[in-house]
Formats: sequence, structure tokens, C-alpha cells
Amino acid sequence: MRERLVIGNWKMNPPTIAEAVELARDVAGRDAGGVAVGVAPPAIALAAVADALRDANVDVYAQDVHWEERGAFTGQISVSMVRGLAVGTIVGHSEVRRDLGDTDERVAKKLARAVAAGLRPVLCVGESEAEHAAGNASIVVARQIVADLKAAQRRGLERLVVAYEPIWAIGTGNPATGTWATTLVRTIRAALKQSGLDGEAIPILYGGSVSARSVGEFADAEGIDGALVGGASLDADEFAAVVRAFA
Ligand code: PGA
Repeated sequence: MRERLVIGNWKMNPPTIAEAVELARDVAGRDAGGVAVGVAPPAIALAAVADALRDANVDVYAQDVHWEERGAFTGQISVSMVRGLAVGTIVGHSEVRRDLGDTDERVAKKLARAVAAGLRPVLCVGESEAEHAAGNASIVVARQIVADLKAAQRRGLERLVVAYEPIWAIGTGNPATGTWATTLVRTIRAALKQSGLDGEAIPILYGGSVSARSVGEFADAEGIDGALVGGASLDADEFAAVVRAFA
């Protein structure tokens, strides 16, 4: 059986490090019902949150890492800075692709760097609204998977997690349907096989307006092993409800 996993992607929230610590403690105080739980705080709060969760059953993830190990990269953080604070890192989130100009080539380099450093990668893929409307979602997502995994050593990818996050569903309050997500998850597993991986063994999360209200649809859908949760992960009660839906 594949691992069930729910990760809260806090993005550029909460407003202070103290509040991030408070939220982390609140999340850690809940019963996850056997579901693996992770939180991805902003880079500046990683150390404080990692400290607060040291004895807790909640994993810490970075939201992004740079593809180089060190050097003249103002504003960036390296895998060696993250290692020791986090078990893994998100790579390829659509907001990073959009705001920082990440291409599949860069995402592939970041993912390879994370894997080489022993960090568990949570690879985000998903089609835009226009690609969705044009009926190209499967082609786009399969292409992303193959391109984003190109540079990584196969040997380090056993712990890969993939998040299917249709861009049109992120932060819109308009999630995909479970049926749609299941179809794309099948595409992703086929693309993982094409990349030489055991697609059936890799957990795939759905992300995009997952809330306590919408989660049932995805928890019941075939092939979906958890969720990557943005907005709803900032409320510990709501996040706990999302986690428990996958138990
Ligand atoms: P959302 O974000 O749950 O706020 O839609 C999900 C994500 O971007 O990971």
C-alpha cells in the first residue's frame, strides 16, 4: 500500500515567524489517524518551525531550493542550508515557475540537487487554464514529468512524491473533480514509468483549493494518496480535517 500523505504549503504565510511556530505547534497537537503529515513554511521560518516540531510527528519541507550548492545567488537557499531542518522540499510549484521564471530545465536541476542531498522531493506539475481548455492537460503534464525527472539519479528517487496541481484550481476556490484528478494521476503514473520509475509505488497528491469541504472527493478518488494544501493549511482545524479525510 502506498503512503498516505498530506502537506501544508504555507506559501508566504503566516505574517511572522512567531505565528508560524504557533501554527506548527497547533498542527502537531492533532491526531493524524495514521496519515503522514508535513508542513512547508517560508524559508525564513524553517529553523524555528523545525525546532518547534523536533519531537512531533510532523515533517518539515522547504518550499523551494536553488539548483546550485553555493555561490552568488542573491535571495536563494541551498540544499545544504535546508538539510537538517527539513526532510524534503517542494520543487516546480507553479507559483515559483510563474514568479521566479522556473522552467522544466531548472526544475529538473533543482530536483536532481535535492535528491543528491538526500531531500525528499515533492514535484509539482499541472496544466494552465488555457492548456486545460484546449484539451492538452495530459500531454502537458506527461511532458513536465519526463522533463523534470531527466537530470535526477534514479537511485535517489524512491522517495519521490508528485503533486498534481492544475493551475486553474490553485487558490481559486474551484477545485478539480475527483474523476478528473484520477485521470491525470493515471497519466502521471504512466509518465513515471516512462522515466524508468515504479509509478505504482510513488505517492501522488492532489493540490488546488483543497478544503475540509472539498477533500472528500479526492480522498475517495482512485490513485490519489493525499493532498498538497495551500490556503486551508493555515487553519489548524481545517488542515486537520483534510488530513483525517485520508485516514
Ligand atoms: P490552494 O494552494 O490549496 O490554496 O489552492 C495549493 C497549492 O498551491 O499548493
